[in-house]
Amino acid sequence: MNRLELVRNEIDVILLNQTNVEQRPLGYIHLYGVSQNCAILALKRGLNVELSAIIGILHDFHTYKFGYVKEHAALGAAEVENILRDLEVFSEKEIEIIKSAISNHSDKENKHDKYSELIKDADVLQNSIYSSVFEIKHKKRLKKVFKNLGIKVKLKNGILAKKNFEYLAKES
Ligand SMILES: [Fe+2]
Repeated sequence: MNRLELVRNEIDVILLNQTNVEQRPLGYIHLYGVSQNCAILALKRGLNVELSAIIGILHDFHTYKFGYVKEHAALGAAEVENILRDLEVFSEKEIEIIKSAISNHSDKENKHDKYSELIKDADVLQNSIYSSVFEIKHKKRLKKVFKNLGIKVKLKNGILAKKNFEYLAKES
């Protein structure tokens, strides 16, 4: 089993044990969605795709295990460190990269290392696409991510302009 699969198994146990059945699919969508965004952005930016996808799938670990709290990033980073050590397939350097990216991911207004910026961007991107009818909190960052991907979008009043999201608009 590859390392991404090993980590996904840890997350799947948490998601499957979600007592709130409405929350369960949202967890899969968000964590797997962010993980895929991380992989795409890593390819674009020349970063390690495997590590990036792993950061993505683990970034909200605390939230989906215990519920959302403001400090979920730091708490999740510490919990993830234990899991990664127990798996015995990650180096110290890799654990540090994953830990600091998870720990920094809520601080979207400031700039950190490349992997921290990658997870913040992937997070904002997933939220903007899945929740396109809701207001986007980090408009400036989102605009930069789309530009980085070479995608032209218009952000109108904090939400993505309808013409870019007709497939979602039809369903709502
Ligand atoms: Fe997230």
